[in-house]
Amino acid sequence: MKSIDIKKPDTHFELNPLIAKRWSPRAFSQKMIEVSQVEEIFEAARWAPSANNEQPWQYVYARKGTDGFNELLDCLSGGNQPWARSAAVLFVALSRDFFLRNGKKNQWAHHDLGLANAQLLIQAASRDIYGHLMAGFDHEKVVQLLELADGIRPVCMGALGYLGDPASLEEPYKTRELTERTRRPLGEILTER
Ligand SMILES: Cc1cc2nc3c(=O)[nH]c(=O)nc-3n(C[C@H](O)[C@H](O)[C@H](O)COP(=O)(O)O)c2cc1C
Repeated sequence: MKSIDIKKPDTHFELNPLIAKRWSPRAFSQKMIEVSQVEEIFEAARWAPSANNEQPWQYVYARKGTDGFNELLDCLSGGNQPWARSAAVLFVALSRDFFLRNGKKNQWAHHDLGLANAQLLIQAASRDIYGHLMAGFDHEKVVQLLELADGIRPVCMGALGYLGDPASLEEPYKTRELTERTRRPLGEILTER
């Protein structure tokens, strides 16, 4: 069974094909992603909904083979670097934690960044590009590298690329790549009152 088959979700209902297709790989092919394609993916993030249309997200990306890529790679945790180095693109997802119009705290900023991330992952999937978000990174290193101002927070990092061969991965990543995806039952997350 190919990794892509293993990763097909076992759903009770027929989902939108792009939602069903998306998953978080660790094996990426050598194929690069054109800048225009990267921009298209982040355009999808741009059109996410947000509280007060604040759009509290910002992204910084780098393509493989550049100093910028190596700098972002260096910010990742030891558990993410071994596989993420083969991605075509690495990015940092930043949230602006205050409203631009009045400087007050935006308590929905991370929520809305998550929506934007979801949209970019789905747009990527529509082009056979897969994304893998990562919380495992050194926040302080990213803040210093990108010289982030107060109130701009790196929430997660991400890897993008075309699917690669799971055999290219070392353990424990290879096994994870070949393991089915699981979810809690719908009844655990949904209640009708
Ligand atoms: C905010 C966030 C942080 C994550 N951090 C990591 C990480 O540091 N390393 C990793 O390998 N996967 C990470 N993941 C991926 C999750 O483990 C993955 O989405 C989850 O297991 C579900 O698998 P699926 O995306 O293939 O459906 C992260 C996902 C999200 C949304």
